[in-house]
Amino acid sequence: MQFSDRILKVKPSATLAITALANSLKAKGIDVIGFGSGEPDFDTPTTIKMAAIKAIETGKTKYTPAGGIPELKKAIVDKFKRDNHLTYDISQVTVNCGGKHSFYNLMQVLLNDGDEVIIPSPYWVSYPPIVQLAGGVPVILETREEDGFKMTPESLKKLLTKKTRALILNSPSNPTGAAYSKDELENIAAVLEGSGVLVISDDIYESIIYDGRTFVNIANLSDTLFKNTIVLNGVSKAYSMTGWRIGYMAGNADIIKKVEILQSQSTSNPSSISQWASVEALIGDQSVITDMVAAFDRRRKIIVEGLNKAPGIRCMMPDGAFYAFPNISGVIALKGWKSIKEKYDSDSSSSVLTSYLLEEAQVAVVPGVEFGNDNNIRLSFATSDENIINGCERIKAALEKLA
Ligand SMILES: Cc1ncc(COP(=O)(O)O)c(C=O)c1O
Repeated sequence: MQFSDRILKVKPSATLAITALANSLKAKGIDVIGFGSGEPDFDTPTTIKMAAIKAIETGKTKYTPAGGIPELKKAIVDKFKRDNHLTYDISQVTVNCGGKHSFYNLMQVLLNDGDEVIIPSPYWVSYPPIVQLAGGVPVILETREEDGFKMTPESLKKLLTKKTRALILNSPSNPTGAAYSKDELENIAAVLEGSGVLVISDDIYESIIYDGRTFVNIANLSDTLFKNTIVLNGVSKAYSMTGWRIGYMAGNADIIKKVEILQSQSTSNPSSISQWASVEALIGDQSVITDMVAAFDRRRKIIVEGLNKAPGIRCMMPDGAFYAFPNISGVIALKGWKSIKEKYDSDSSSSVLTSYLLEEAQVAVVPGVEFGNDNNIRLSFATSDENIINGCERIKAALEKLA
């Protein structure tokens, strides 16, 4: 069968694949503890579900404008003002079928063949393929664990070329949990000044942030940065609405208009029912977020403490999001490493460890290599305290066998 060169370049999403594998093992009766999934384990709050039911009952079940209903756009404008001190006109926001789709649409309307997009690594698995699908070139900016997995101004400066179209900023980050402070963003902004490079600020984890940090958006720093930033966000993570598929973006009205044209000729509107549910999510009681974040914070401490007890594992405390991203170099130094490397026969250490943990400990994690970093693995702590405690014990016991 002949396929397009575009699709042949793209691998399936590793995180979705691991979750599917863990679920299929569970279905066979194997007691797998899954740390793969990138979604909150809480149910969608009742008030939001009720808003969807009301939408169905009142006939809000037809096509809507391709870029979303005015009520949701207004709720998004109000949310940006309330939470981010960013003032947008309604013509500057649009609604898409999930945060991933927002990024996909944006790349499709912005990039020509060969345009470069700087992606700090470790990165969310979908950034590079989505850039490639739009004909763009992902330019990977390696960050260091010693720098908290944050880009430095010098490392950014080195990668800027005439072809650089955009820089992705994902704070708090998937997979590292790193969140940029205002000062750090100011240093990055200084490098970008006068470059005309667009900043794509993926704020999907903005509300999941710990230790009293306040989320800052680079668009807050100056009028120019406000104009040169496209903010991506969505209801998936903050309101536990991953299945509802609502993402949104805000920024330059001309870009937004083009995104709506693309959407009108591809998906058409995001689900009308999900849009009405999202209005309630954004304007309703925001304490649902605080409650979830309190649980994530508790689990964050449990998982970091538990992982650090396992031989060879070194895990930093994430600033935000719900992922732990432990370093595994110490595991590679363990006596038994050679035998498992031979058994699972892969050049990727994080993939060898992932296979070992799945088979030996029945624990599903995601290999860091999928996020551009083979020295680490990712564990989502969006699962119960009990699963985290048991999972960490299983990892510790499995790694003790290699010591
Ligand atoms: C960094 C990042 N951005 C965007 C998304 C998109 O979320 P969704 O498409 O479910 O709204 C995700 C989901 O995992 C993510 O981790």
